Amino acid sequence: QSGAVPVICIDGPTASGKGTVASLVAQRLGYAFLDSGALYRATALAAARAGLVMEPGNEAAIAVIARQLPIRFDGERIWLADEDVSEALRLEATGADASRISAMATVRTALLDLQHGFARLPGLVADGRDMGTVIFPTAPLKVFMTASAACRAERRHKQLISKGIDAKIDSLRADLEARDARDQSRAVAPLKPAQDALLLDNSTLTIEETVAQVLAWWQERQPFA
Ligand code: DC
Repeated sequence: QSGAVPVICIDGPTASGKGTVASLVAQRLGYAFLDSGALYRATALAAARAGLVMEPGNEAAIAVIARQLPIRFDGERIWLADEDVSEALRLEATGADASRISAMATVRTALLDLQHGFARLPGLVADGRDMGTVIFPTAPLKVFMTASAACRAERRHKQLISKGIDAKIDSLRADLEARDARDQSRAVAPLKPAQDALLLDNSTLTIEETVAQVLAWWQERQPFA
């Protein structure tokens, strides 16, 4: 880990809004942004394309794919080799596959260097599940962002409907609770707040209020801000 680079970690469960908030915070500060979930999603997508099912027996083969992942972030777009996979990565099926392979220890190890490589001056905002606990443990600000399951299901529902995708709130909620349970109970790097993380429940906050809270915490952490 590049100790000289200030890192803000934003971890939390699926659909807590942390991706949106983390990317806005990065924009405001002029920092780099790491969407670590996209790395797991891209690995899952590449594995599926290679004909692999996300089962423990395929862990070694999936880890090889993770280690050689030809991923490139270009503004809002994400490329896998010469294909724009931005939409494919957001599919619920890709997220579910990503959650499965993210329980594999060798896959997580294979993605370490790639993640550390995002740290560069003047700073980095890293969004994920284990940014504060495993990837950047010495980061001066770690936020654990949550929102109630009902709230998260409702937000995901709105997001899908606005894209013209039909969805049922109840099944979305069941899916995200299942994903939470799997992410929290896995043996390696489970989803949990770092000991020194600040909890931010944004159930009743707007995106702008949530961003403002993170920026205020960062301000308090001079001389990093
Ligand atoms: O944040 P997301 O929904 O894009 O993440 C997809 C999956 O990847 C999620 O179910 C858990 C996994 N993940 C992880 O294990 N560690 C991270 N740092 C980020 C994501």
